[in-house]
Order: sequence, then structure tokens, then C-alpha cells
Amino acid sequence: MRKVSPVRYDEERQTWDVFCYEGAQKTLTDYKTFSSQMGGGEISLLGMDPPKHKLYRSIVAQAFTPISIEKMEPRIEQIARELLSARVARGEMDIIADLAFPLPVIVIAEMLGVPAEDRELFKKWSDALVADVDIAKGQTAMELLERKQKVAEDLYHYFGSVVEEHRKHPKDDLISALLQARIEEQSLDEQALLSFCLLLLVAGNETTTNLIGNAMLTFLERPQLMEKLRADRSLLPTAIEEVLRFRSPVQSLSRRVTTDTVLNGQQLKAGDRVIIWLGSANRDERQFENADQFMYKRHPNRHIAFGHGIHFCLGAALARLEARVALHTLLQQAPTMALRDSSTIQPLQSTFVYGYPAIPVT
Ligand code: HEM
Repeated sequence: MRKVSPVRYDEERQTWDVFCYEGAQKTLTDYKTFSSQMGGGEISLLGMDPPKHKLYRSIVAQAFTPISIEKMEPRIEQIARELLSARVARGEMDIIADLAFPLPVIVIAEMLGVPAEDRELFKKWSDALVADVDIAKGQTAMELLERKQKVAEDLYHYFGSVVEEHRKHPKDDLISALLQARIEEQSLDEQALLSFCLLLLVAGNETTTNLIGNAMLTFLERPQLMEKLRADRSLLPTAIEEVLRFRSPVQSLSRRVTTDTVLNGQQLKAGDRVIIWLGSANRDERQFENADQFMYKRHPNRHIAFGHGIHFCLGAALARLEARVALHTLLQQAPTMALRDSSTIQPLQSTFVYGYPAIPVT
């Protein structure tokens, strides 16, 4: 598809699909022509355009710089060790349920300042918000939308009470920082504040879970590589970048065309919807040599798994750190590890995210 029609229009979905790396990069760079405002109201950073986008992004950017994030390494390591100690002793575990899922939830909960006991609720909510239509259960697109609206309401309600608590008793965390933030001398209104919390939860949890899961699956499929990574932790960062390229946790992004434009020889019209297929762009042979091969030392590796341009993932440094710490801790604590039954490992049913609901190992 990428070779034959790198940018194509799908009549049925009334959508442009961008499969190639060059087209994806152009679309994400040119935020004026390819807007992030998809018509659902611009309450989240992800759906904002400049100048509003920059104002809002700067509020939380401070907490996510590589320097701020690096300070969290010892705590992340402690959480990973605690999660793993009981599981490894038992001799069998599920990489997702026992490590890859709880770790990012606990980390972001602590950063925000919400109680970690509520993490099962978060999983339910964040899974529901990114779910696709469940055809097997006869679910319709409308039912899915209603379900998502209900879940978003529950989450807003929940965060509302956490924020109230912070108003009364400010702490040294992100929610307190959001409460103090000013945009053009105005504090954030309730909705902006809650949508920030929701965004950090939804944008950061399932994606990082899937990065850790996709990495472990890739290593388990290559036992010799796993041994190398176990013996030398300095190899992990480039291997993680290659996992981001090879099994991209976020598969697609949406944009809306603002003015008629030409992309890859195709005429796009104002108002058209565009889907950028990151996973496909990251396998583009014109950008990556042996694109379908996993090369753990690949360099350079200019994948766009975290997006590109002004919306480049705010949590990239955090996700990289969590993955590095989780994988290192797991490799050290479980000196022998193999997939329990590779035939049962099936990817999530989604066109938006790529990952595995369970990866059982012994
Ligand atoms: C944006 C991927 C982890 C917070 C994005 C975008 C991508 C992405 C592709 C660009 C969206 C667009 O252009 O429309 C990922 C992946 C992750 C990850 C693959 C893990 C492996 C995280 C984490 C956090 C986070 C841990 C925070 C806790 C955000 C935010 C944005 C964003 C706030 C919006 C930035 C903006 O609109 O300016 N992410 N993300 N992400 N990500 Fe991540």
C-alpha cells in the first residue's frame, strides 16, 4: 500500500490515508494546513492549534523536561522492583498485568497527586477511551461513542473531587501546579484543568504499557538479543528506539485540512480528514534500510513514533525512562524467561494503538 499509493483517498471512510514517511512528516510539520482541531471542541492540548496550543503546553512542559524526568529514576526503579519481587518468586507472570500496566499508572498518579489505589479504575477508563468497536459483541459505533462519553464523564467527576481536595490542601505535585498556572493572567477554568488530567492519564498510560510489552515480546522472540541486553544495559536505549519504530504503540493520528493543498501529487481540499499512519511511516523503506528487520543498534533512527513538530509527545522522556527502567529491572530479576504459549499472544483489536493485552511468561 505504502509503495503503490503512499497518499490515497478512501471513498468509504471519506478520509485521506498517509502511509509514507515523507508525507507523514510533512503533514505533522505543517500545522497550519493540517489542523489538530477535529471539531470535537479544543479542550485538550492534542486538539489545539497555535497560539492557544503553545500557551497551554508551556504550563505542563516544565514537569516533563528530560532534567525533571531524570530525577524520577530512583523512584521508578523502586516501583518496578516492588511490582516484580512477588511475581518473579512465583515463577510465572504476565508482563502486562504485573509490570507494564501498573508501572506508568502509578508513576503518573504520583506525579499528578492522585491516590494510586484507584489504578484499577484508571485501567478500565483508559482502555475504554481508546477502544474500537467490538464487532464480536455486536456493538455499533453509536454505542461505543455513548460508552466513551459515559467513561469520560466518570473520569471528569473523579478528577473533580481530587482537584477540590488539592484546592483545600495544595501539595508539591502537578495538580497543584495546574491550579496555580495562569494563562494571560487567568487561572485555568475547571474544564481545562480536568482535561489536562485526563489527557496525561490517557496519553501516557496505555502507550507506555504497550511500549514495555512490545519491547519484551520483541526480546522474548529473540533469546540471543535478550541475553545481550541482560549483560549490557547500555544497549537498552537504542533497542527501545527500535521497538518504538518496529512496533509503534501509537499507530495513527488525525488531522483536518484547513486550505486546499497538494500532498504527494494528490489534491486535498479544505475540510478533508487525514489519517497519518505512524506505524507504516516507521517501516518506510525509503527512510529505513531493511525496514522490516528489527536492528537493535539501528543508527540513525529517526522514527516518528512520538509524532513530529509542535505536538511532539510531551511525555517522550518519561516513557523512555519508564521503559528503560522496567526492562532493565525485569531482565535482572528474571534471569530465565520464555513465552508461556506464543500461539495465544494476540494483538489488541485497534487501528489506533498497537500492543498486546497479555504476555504470559514462565
Ligand atoms: C502527544 C505518542 C507516552 C503525554 C503524543 C503524540 C504521539 C505520542 C504520537 C503526538 C500526537 C499528535 O501529534 O496529534 C506517545 C507514545 C508514548 C507516549 C508512543 C509511549 C511510548 C506519553 C506519556 C505522557 C504523554 C508517558 C505523559 C504522561 C503526551 C501529551 C501529548 C502527547 C500531553 C500532547 C502534546 C501536544 O499536543 O502538544 N504522544 N506518547 N505521552 N503525549 Fe505522548
